[in-house]
Amino acid sequence: MLRVESVFKSFDEFMAVNGANLQVEKGEIVAVIGPNGAGKTTLFNLITGLLKPDRGRIIFKEEDITPLPPYEICRKGITRSFQIVNIFPRLTVFGNVQVAVLSHQRRSSNLFRSAERIAVKETREILETVGLLDKENLVAGSLSHGDQKILEIAIALGNEPELLILDEPTAGMSPEETQKTMELIKRLAKMRELTILFCEHDMEIVFSIAQRIMVMRHGRTIIQGTPEEVRSHPEVQEAYLGEEYARG
Ligand SMILES: Nc1ncnc2c1ncn2[C@@H]1O[C@H](COP(=O)(O)OP(=O)(O)O)[C@@H](O)[C@H]1O
Ligand SMILES: [Mg+2]
Repeated sequence: MLRVESVFKSFDEFMAVNGANLQVEKGEIVAVIGPNGAGKTTLFNLITGLLKPDRGRIIFKEEDITPLPPYEICRKGITRSFQIVNIFPRLTVFGNVQVAVLSHQRRSSNLFRSAERIAVKETREILETVGLLDKENLVAGSLSHGDQKILEIAIALGNEPELLILDEPTAGMSPEETQKTMELIKRLAKMRELTILFCEHDMEIVFSIAQRIMVMRHGRTIIQGTPEEVRSHPEVQEAYLGEEYARG
Protein backbone atom coordinates (compact mmCIF):
# COMPACT_ATOMS: atom_id res chain seq x y z
CA MET A 1 0.00 0.00 0.00
CA LEU A 2 2.79 2.41 0.94
CA ARG A 3 6.42 2.41 -0.08
CA VAL A 4 8.96 4.94 1.11
CA GLU A 5 12.00 4.61 -1.13
CA SER A 6 15.35 6.02 0.03
CA VAL A 7 13.97 9.29 1.29
CA PHE A 8 16.23 12.13 2.45
CA LYS A 9 15.34 15.37 4.18
CA SER A 10 17.72 17.92 5.61
CA PHE A 11 17.13 21.09 7.62
CA ASP A 12 20.01 23.38 6.74
CA GLU A 13 22.98 21.05 7.07
CA PHE A 14 21.29 18.58 9.36
CA MET A 15 20.03 15.31 7.87
CA ALA A 16 16.83 14.60 9.78
CA VAL A 17 15.85 11.77 7.44
CA ASN A 18 18.87 10.17 5.90
CA GLY A 19 17.85 7.35 3.61
CA ALA A 20 14.68 5.95 5.12
CA ASN A 21 12.88 2.95 3.64
CA LEU A 22 9.52 1.66 4.69
CA GLN A 23 6.94 -0.70 3.34
CA VAL A 24 3.39 -1.03 4.57
CA GLU A 25 1.03 -3.72 3.26
CA LYS A 26 -2.72 -3.31 3.22
CA GLY A 27 -4.34 -4.18 6.54
CA GLU A 28 -1.11 -4.22 8.50
CA ILE A 29 -0.26 -2.48 11.75
CA VAL A 30 3.25 -1.16 11.34
CA ALA A 31 5.30 0.64 13.98
CA VAL A 32 8.24 2.96 13.52
CA ILE A 33 10.52 3.00 16.54
CA GLY A 34 13.68 4.86 17.33
CA PRO A 35 15.07 7.21 19.95
CA ASN A 36 14.02 10.83 20.23
CA GLY A 37 15.27 12.78 17.25
CA ALA A 38 15.55 9.68 15.05
CA GLY A 39 13.39 11.34 12.40
CA LYS A 40 10.04 9.60 12.95
CA THR A 41 7.88 12.74 12.92
CA THR A 42 9.80 14.14 9.96
CA LEU A 43 9.21 10.88 8.10
CA PHE A 44 5.47 11.13 8.78
CA ASN A 45 5.53 14.76 7.61
CA LEU A 46 7.16 13.61 4.40
CA ILE A 47 4.60 10.86 3.81
CA THR A 48 1.68 13.24 4.37
CA GLY A 49 3.18 15.98 2.20
CA LEU A 50 3.74 18.60 4.91
CA LEU A 51 7.40 18.40 3.99
CA LYS A 52 8.94 17.52 0.65
CA PRO A 53 11.93 15.17 0.49
CA ASP A 54 15.24 16.32 -0.98
CA ARG A 55 15.52 12.92 -2.61
CA GLY A 56 13.59 9.68 -2.80
CA ARG A 57 10.05 8.68 -3.60
CA ILE A 58 6.86 7.93 -1.74
CA ILE A 59 4.50 5.53 -3.46
CA PHE A 60 0.92 5.04 -2.29
CA LYS A 61 -1.20 2.39 -3.99
CA GLU A 62 1.22 2.26 -6.92
CA GLU A 63 1.08 6.02 -7.42
CA ASP A 64 3.97 8.39 -6.86
CA ILE A 65 2.56 10.89 -4.35
CA THR A 66 5.88 12.62 -3.65
CA PRO A 67 4.99 15.85 -5.48
CA LEU A 68 1.39 16.13 -4.22
CA PRO A 69 0.25 18.75 -1.69
CA PRO A 70 -1.05 17.54 1.70
CA TYR A 71 -4.76 17.91 0.90
CA GLU A 72 -4.42 15.73 -2.19
CA ILE A 73 -2.53 13.09 -0.29
CA CYS A 74 -5.27 13.23 2.30
CA ARG A 75 -7.91 12.84 -0.38
CA LYS A 76 -6.11 9.79 -1.71
CA GLY A 77 -6.65 8.13 1.65
CA ILE A 78 -3.81 8.97 4.02
CA THR A 79 -4.79 10.72 7.25
CA ARG A 80 -2.65 11.41 10.27
CA SER A 81 -2.83 12.56 13.82
CA PHE A 82 -0.19 14.71 15.45
CA GLN A 83 2.20 14.14 18.32
CA ILE A 84 0.76 17.26 19.94
CA VAL A 85 -3.01 17.31 20.42
CA ASN A 86 -4.72 19.11 17.57
CA ILE A 87 -8.44 19.62 18.17
CA PHE A 88 -10.90 22.51 18.33
CA PRO A 89 -10.97 22.90 22.12
CA ARG A 90 -14.11 25.07 22.24
CA LEU A 91 -16.24 22.88 20.00
CA THR A 92 -18.02 19.89 21.44
CA VAL A 93 -16.65 16.40 20.97
CA PHE A 94 -19.46 15.80 18.48
CA GLY A 95 -18.69 19.05 16.65
CA ASN A 96 -15.02 18.20 16.25
CA VAL A 97 -15.79 14.93 14.51
CA GLN A 98 -18.69 16.31 12.48
CA VAL A 99 -16.48 19.01 10.99
CA ALA A 100 -14.14 16.30 9.75
CA VAL A 101 -16.96 14.14 8.38
CA LEU A 102 -18.59 17.09 6.61
CA SER A 103 -15.42 18.40 5.09
CA HIS A 104 -14.62 14.92 3.82
CA GLN A 105 -18.08 14.58 2.27
CA ARG A 106 -17.78 17.99 0.67
CA ARG A 107 -14.49 17.03 -0.84
CA SER A 108 -15.55 13.66 -2.07
CA SER A 109 -18.99 14.35 -3.53
CA ASN A 110 -20.97 17.09 -5.25
CA LEU A 111 -24.23 15.80 -3.89
CA PHE A 112 -24.82 17.98 -0.94
CA ARG A 113 -28.37 16.94 -0.13
CA SER A 114 -28.87 15.70 3.40
CA ALA A 115 -25.15 15.87 4.01
CA GLU A 116 -25.73 17.16 7.52
CA ARG A 117 -28.01 14.28 8.36
CA ILE A 118 -25.65 11.68 6.99
CA ALA A 119 -22.84 13.38 8.84
CA VAL A 120 -24.73 13.10 12.13
CA LYS A 121 -25.08 9.36 11.68
CA GLU A 122 -21.47 8.88 10.67
CA THR A 123 -20.21 11.13 13.42
CA ARG A 124 -22.09 9.10 16.04
CA GLU A 125 -20.79 5.85 14.56
CA ILE A 126 -17.23 7.09 14.81
CA LEU A 127 -17.73 8.32 18.37
CA GLU A 128 -19.19 4.99 19.29
CA THR A 129 -16.26 3.13 17.73
CA VAL A 130 -13.71 5.11 19.73
CA GLY A 131 -15.78 5.06 22.92
CA LEU A 132 -16.53 8.78 23.16
CA LEU A 133 -20.25 8.75 22.38
CA ASP A 134 -21.25 9.33 26.00
CA LYS A 135 -19.12 12.50 25.95
CA GLU A 136 -20.35 13.87 22.61
CA ASN A 137 -21.83 17.02 24.15
CA LEU A 138 -18.83 17.98 26.23
CA VAL A 139 -16.56 20.78 25.11
CA ALA A 140 -13.48 19.11 23.66
CA GLY A 141 -11.08 21.22 25.69
CA SER A 142 -12.57 19.84 28.91
CA LEU A 143 -11.66 16.23 28.10
CA SER A 144 -8.74 14.50 29.79
CA HIS A 145 -5.51 14.45 27.81
CA GLY A 146 -6.09 10.79 26.95
CA ASP A 147 -9.59 11.45 25.64
CA GLN A 148 -8.32 14.40 23.61
CA LYS A 149 -5.81 12.13 21.90
CA ILE A 150 -8.58 9.63 21.19
CA LEU A 151 -10.74 12.44 19.85
CA GLU A 152 -7.92 13.20 17.44
CA ILE A 153 -8.14 9.66 16.15
CA ALA A 154 -11.91 10.09 15.78
CA ILE A 155 -11.36 13.27 13.76
CA ALA A 156 -8.92 11.40 11.54
CA LEU A 157 -11.54 8.67 10.99
CA GLY A 158 -13.95 11.34 9.73
CA ASN A 159 -11.83 11.45 6.64
CA GLU A 160 -12.40 7.74 6.00
CA PRO A 161 -8.71 7.03 5.54
CA GLU A 162 -7.31 3.81 4.16
CA LEU A 163 -3.99 4.47 5.81
CA LEU A 164 -4.09 6.03 9.27
CA ILE A 165 -0.84 7.49 10.55
CA LEU A 166 -0.53 8.12 14.28
CA ASP A 167 2.37 10.05 15.77
CA GLU A 168 2.88 8.78 19.32
CA PRO A 169 -0.80 8.06 19.95
CA THR A 170 -0.21 7.32 23.62
CA ALA A 171 2.15 10.18 24.43
CA GLY A 172 1.45 11.53 27.91
CA MET A 173 -1.23 8.95 28.67
CA SER A 174 -1.72 7.05 31.89
CA PRO A 175 -1.17 3.28 31.73
CA GLU A 176 -4.94 2.68 31.59
CA GLU A 177 -5.43 5.22 28.83
CA THR A 178 -2.53 3.69 26.96
CA GLN A 179 -4.08 0.25 27.23
CA LYS A 180 -7.41 1.59 26.00
CA THR A 181 -5.79 3.31 23.04
CA MET A 182 -3.90 0.19 22.05
CA GLU A 183 -7.10 -1.85 22.05
CA LEU A 184 -8.75 0.85 19.99
CA ILE A 185 -5.98 0.72 17.40
CA LYS A 186 -6.30 -3.05 17.14
CA ARG A 187 -10.07 -2.77 16.87
CA LEU A 188 -9.84 -0.15 14.14
CA ALA A 189 -7.51 -2.27 12.08
CA LYS A 190 -9.94 -5.15 12.35
CA MET A 191 -13.37 -3.51 12.18
CA ARG A 192 -12.63 -0.81 9.66
CA GLU A 193 -9.98 -2.76 7.74
CA LEU A 194 -7.65 0.13 8.28
CA THR A 195 -3.97 0.05 7.64
CA ILE A 196 -2.17 1.70 10.53
CA LEU A 197 1.29 3.20 10.72
CA PHE A 198 2.35 4.62 14.05
CA CYS A 199 5.40 5.58 16.02
CA GLU A 200 5.79 5.04 19.70
CA HIS A 201 8.38 5.11 22.47
CA ASP A 202 7.06 2.29 24.59
CA MET A 203 8.60 -0.97 23.43
CA GLU A 204 6.08 -3.11 25.23
CA ILE A 205 3.26 -1.46 23.31
CA VAL A 206 5.04 -1.72 20.00
CA PHE A 207 5.86 -5.39 20.36
CA SER A 208 2.37 -6.23 21.55
CA ILE A 209 0.45 -4.76 18.62
CA ALA A 210 2.70 -4.18 15.62
CA GLN A 211 2.82 -6.88 12.97
CA ARG A 212 5.92 -5.32 11.52
CA ILE A 213 8.39 -2.85 12.93
CA MET A 214 10.74 -0.41 11.28
CA VAL A 215 13.66 0.81 13.36
CA MET A 216 15.04 4.28 12.71
CA ARG A 217 18.24 5.78 13.96
CA HIS A 218 19.84 9.05 12.89
CA GLY A 219 17.28 9.32 10.11
CA ARG A 220 18.17 5.94 8.68
CA THR A 221 16.25 2.68 8.49
CA ILE A 222 18.22 0.07 10.42
CA ILE A 223 15.79 -2.75 9.74
CA GLN A 224 12.16 -3.42 8.95
CA GLY A 225 10.82 -6.81 9.90
CA THR A 226 8.62 -8.87 12.16
CA PRO A 227 8.88 -8.26 15.91
CA GLU A 228 11.03 -11.39 16.16
CA GLU A 229 13.40 -10.28 13.42
CA VAL A 230 13.72 -6.86 14.97
CA ARG A 231 14.33 -8.23 18.44
CA SER A 232 17.18 -10.42 17.28
CA HIS A 233 18.89 -7.85 15.06
CA PRO A 234 22.30 -7.12 16.61
CA GLU A 235 22.41 -3.43 15.78
CA VAL A 236 18.94 -2.91 17.18
CA GLN A 237 19.78 -4.66 20.42
CA GLU A 238 22.91 -2.65 20.80
CA ALA A 239 21.56 0.69 19.66
CA TYR A 240 18.18 0.72 21.19
CA LEU A 241 16.65 -2.32 22.75
CA GLY A 242 19.69 -3.30 24.77
CA GLU A 243 19.30 -0.21 26.82
CA GLU A 244 15.58 -0.82 27.31
CA TYR A 245 16.11 -4.44 28.28
CA ALA A 246 18.94 -3.52 30.60
CA ARG A 247 16.61 -1.20 32.42
CA GLY A 248 14.23 -4.09 32.66
N1 LIG B 1 11.64 22.05 11.08
C1 LIG B 1 12.81 21.63 11.55
N2 LIG B 1 13.91 22.41 11.47
C2 LIG B 1 15.12 22.00 11.93
N3 LIG B 1 15.33 20.79 12.50
C3 LIG B 1 14.28 19.97 12.61
C4 LIG B 1 12.97 20.34 12.16
N4 LIG B 1 12.13 19.30 12.40
C5 LIG B 1 12.87 18.35 12.99
N5 LIG B 1 14.15 18.74 13.10
C6 LIG B 1 15.26 17.95 13.68
O1 LIG B 1 15.27 16.69 13.00
C7 LIG B 1 15.55 15.63 13.91
C8 LIG B 1 14.45 14.59 13.84
O2 LIG B 1 13.29 15.12 14.45
P1 LIG B 1 11.93 14.33 14.53
O3 LIG B 1 11.57 13.87 13.16
O4 LIG B 1 10.97 15.21 15.23
O5 LIG B 1 12.35 13.09 15.41
P2 LIG B 1 11.45 12.07 16.25
O6 LIG B 1 10.02 12.29 15.88
O7 LIG B 1 11.97 10.72 15.89
O8 LIG B 1 11.73 12.38 17.69
C9 LIG B 1 15.70 16.25 15.28
O9 LIG B 1 17.07 16.41 15.56
C10 LIG B 1 15.00 17.59 15.14
O10 LIG B 1 15.58 18.53 16.00
MG1 LIG C 1 8.35 12.81 16.99
